[in-house]
Amino acid sequence: TYSSVIAIDGPSGSGKSTVAKLLAKELGILYIDTGAMFRALGLAAHDADVDLHDHQAVEKFLKEIKLEYGQADALVKVDGKDLSQRIREHHVSKLASIISQIPVVRTMLLDFQRSIAKEKVCVMEGRDIGTIVFPDAFIKFFVTASIDIRAQRRYDQLIEKGQSDIDLEQLIKDVKKRDEKDMGREVAPLVKADDATLVDTSEMDISKVISTLKQDVHARA
Ligand code: C5P
Repeated sequence: TYSSVIAIDGPSGSGKSTVAKLLAKELGILYIDTGAMFRALGLAAHDADVDLHDHQAVEKFLKEIKLEYGQADALVKVDGKDLSQRIREHHVSKLASIISQIPVVRTMLLDFQRSIAKEKVCVMEGRDIGTIVFPDAFIKFFVTASIDIRAQRRYDQLIEKGQSDIDLEQLIKDVKKRDEKDMGREVAPLVKADDATLVDTSEMDISKVISTLKQDVHARA
């Protein structure tokens, strides 16, 4: 049983990463960022000049590489190379979104994610954790926020990371497009699980969100 997983899903910029990280820290349990895995595979395939739209080429690539995930700050490695920094670059979001639509990629990461969480208590964040990866998770949250606020947060993050060539209007469009892709895809679309608690972070500050979630977790334990 996977009842020891706290599943956190939601669109990009909803604050789910911040929430998931802090919640795991406060509860003293593992934090697992599945987006980092899709990003690492997208980036590594791109680096290797694999055409991300060619499913067979991607499948072949997956068989040749070794993916590693370390819990400390979502460390991801492909063939021993640490990609943790580079996966946060803006262009990698798109690579992750493209590769995440390929069924064989999702199957591989599904197994990977389940094996990491085996017999360990953890907070796992992504798009399909409460619906597909751990449908019997102990507790599920679906974290969201308005599109403008999500784009603004993404913008602030990128600026903080030193990327100065970002246009907010374009970013809003990018965020919308990625949402549509994530929600509209055939395999494992981004959708709230029926039994997930909806958390809208548009008007809430982070400490408020965390204390609300912690209360929920404790009430369920
Ligand atoms: O969460 P993050 O923005 O890092 O995820 C990058 C992309 O990876 C998402 O836009 C989505 O397409 C894909 N993803 C996914 N399933 C997950 C996590 C991420 O399809 N569980």
